Amino acid sequence: MILSGKSRIAGVMGWPVGHSRSPRLHGFWLQQYGIDGAYVPLPVPPDRIEPAIRALPALGLAGCNVTVPHKEAAFRLVDLLDPAAKRIGAVNTIVVRPDGSLEGRNTDAFGFRENLRDGAPAWDPAAGPAVVVGAGGAARAVAVALLDSGVPELRLVNRTRARAEELAADLGPGVPVRVIPWEWRASALADAGLLVNTTTQGMAGQAGLDLPLAGLPPATVVTDIVYTPLLTPLLKEAKARGNPVVDGLGMLLHQARPGFQAWFGLAPKVTPELRRFVLEGL
Ligand code: ATR
Repeated sequence: MILSGKSRIAGVMGWPVGHSRSPRLHGFWLQQYGIDGAYVPLPVPPDRIEPAIRALPALGLAGCNVTVPHKEAAFRLVDLLDPAAKRIGAVNTIVVRPDGSLEGRNTDAFGFRENLRDGAPAWDPAAGPAVVVGAGGAARAVAVALLDSGVPELRLVNRTRARAEELAADLGPGVPVRVIPWEWRASALADAGLLVNTTTQGMAGQAGLDLPLAGLPPATVVTDIVYTPLLTPLLKEAKARGNPVVDGLGMLLHQARPGFQAWFGLAPKVTPELRRFVLEGL
């Protein structure tokens, strides 16, 4: 697509940003839909994040995605927050509004939920407790998505217990959340309806998640937010046992949809072609 003077421009702010799949992902949609627009990498070091975000309206950008390590800084810097960003405490999508103000959104919970809908359409949130391993930023978005889905209980299992306790407290009073000590992680699986890995364990070059699956019921859906490799050791083992598994690539693809729609004015679709195209770039 040759750009005109009226092109809509968005991008992704991160540091480093060279590994981000977002330019490829949004670039595919821009080309597919013939949109006069561009989506560019925006390498912004941590000490420049404030001026970079404040410059978005002055530069005429439609907005941007925000990735590691800027999601919490973006949360503090925008003018208003959507309910998901407020609850997760991080912003991954900024939309420049017509009056030049900055709206911070978080679409990670949406992406997680849509990926499950795609990959495990038969999963019933009411089927049993959901076990979430990890308590970092990704776990926050997953926890919000699962509570909104109506799981009867959310079990948080993290190597460092204090972080899980902190996440549980941040999710607010009156929500069905239990922190399970790391030593008891295997028994937390007993009657689970869903198991989610939100840690970096299982990523290429790292050890697999240290979680014995012997006690996992055969119908429990198992998913991972790691997508390099697509079939992590956890998913491989669960699949070999006959459990339904959902890989993490779809979360990346689906979390991009609301931003693209806000910046470029069209609701994009996650298709097998898009999945193949992004996979080729991994
Ligand atoms: P993100 O924001 O992307 O989720 P993070 O904040 O660095 O990343 O969190 C990484 C998660 O992986 C944490 O829950 C971390 O556990 P700790 O809170 O105990 O650090 C978890 N993690 C990292 N390495 C791990 C390991 N070897 N075994 C178990 N959990 C691990």
